[in-house]
Amino acid sequence: MRNVVLIGFMGTGKTTTGTALAKTIGFSFHDLDEAVETESGMTIPQIFAEKGEPYFRACEKQMVKKAAAMDRAVIATGGGTVKDEENVRALRETGIIVALTANVNTILQRTGTKGVRPILDGEDGGNRKKAIEKLLFERRGLYAQADFSVDTSDRSAQEVADAIIETLKTRGEYDVGMA
Ligand code: S3P
Repeated sequence: MRNVVLIGFMGTGKTTTGTALAKTIGFSFHDLDEAVETESGMTIPQIFAEKGEPYFRACEKQMVKKAAAMDRAVIATGGGTVKDEENVRALRETGIIVALTANVNTILQRTGTKGVRPILDGEDGGNRKKAIEKLLFERRGLYAQADFSVDTSDRSAQEVADAIIETLKTRGEYDVGMA
């Protein structure tokens, strides 16, 4: 079976869903943000502050190449990974692409902690909500490139993982006899 690649906006649950999904189907779990942090020895906010976003994107691209070469992996991307067409192409070559979605209030709630997502920091309260809405609108076409999408609002990570498995089965993408 192909890799399963989770794309979607910040706060749509790519990491939590990916962890639950990988465990359920017996795949390894690979998180691109975590790989970037390990590779660079810095947290993402540190990278953005000290090296800038282009450095982060270059490192992210290297991690995409490594991840796309994996076998039987669930890959959680960062919200901006799919801005780069080559990233999408590489991930699609070996994986099925699943977009996770969530409504704005859910995203606001899940991304409320400051100092974690530099792209959203600097925007408070209503402004933060507006910044999310604006970015969601700008990026909507990127997430629409997925093979299918699953809404994660008001659902647990396991419920989302199970919904993904159901759709994989319907599409004939799921190996019978897997965990
Ligand atoms: C980003 C999303 C983050 C992380 C970085 C940039 C983005 O990942 O890669 O802060 O551009 O949307 P999450 O979607 O896992 O928060």
